[in-house]
Amino acid sequence: MKIAIMGAMPEEITPILKIVGEYKTTEYANNTYYEASYKGTELVIAHSKIGKVFSTLTATSMIQHFGCDKLLFSGVAGGINPSLKIGDLIVATKLSQHDLDITAFGHPMGFVPGGSVFVETDKELINIAKDVAKELGKTVQEGIIATGDQFVHDSKVKDAIVKNFNADALEMEGGSVAVVCDALNVPFFILRAISDTADTDASFSFDEFMESSAIISAEFIMKMVDKLVE
Ligand code: ADE
Repeated sequence: MKIAIMGAMPEEITPILKIVGEYKTTEYANNTYYEASYKGTELVIAHSKIGKVFSTLTATSMIQHFGCDKLLFSGVAGGINPSLKIGDLIVATKLSQHDLDITAFGHPMGFVPGGSVFVETDKELINIAKDVAKELGKTVQEGIIATGDQFVHDSKVKDAIVKNFNADALEMEGGSVAVVCDALNVPFFILRAISDTADTDASFSFDEFMESSAIISAEFIMKMVDKLVE
């Protein structure tokens, strides 16, 4: 087993690198990959940079170049479901691309021929997350995550994403990572801690809470890794 652990921004993987301690650094395809042996299992850790294109490149590289056979994503998201507060964790059951739009040709939002509106995540990894949550006495909400190449800070945009995808949270990488892992048959898991609520105050809230929420998500992911390598 070789596990890929991805974030988008440096702050999303720094807490993971701290826990892992020792690692080797490799430059590949304009990005830095951190390879570590953790409790006898090989890990490859990287932050992709923000957005669907960079996250696609990193997920593909981790699988095709580094040989990872499971992928865990850790990071922050904007909350849509009012039950999600800053710092709360959401596990994606399925993901969509909210800005993929060929509705001009009669297709639903998020759909292109040959693809699907939603890509489902791995159920076994969700069960491991549930076990970890139970052990830690934490609540982890399962839900739909919508991904797009924009930082959403507008209630109207948020409402449209709810209408189109019934999403609980939104971010900028999960949906593309999902497409890659699904196509390459690699079980994957997307965890996000809420940093803002994607409305007018989103950028202020993001600046204030991004780092603390990234730590919450990263520490939870490493508890999952502990279970996986047991
Ligand atoms: N990630 C965290 N907050 C976000 C937001 N409001 N929009 C897009 N991605 C995010």
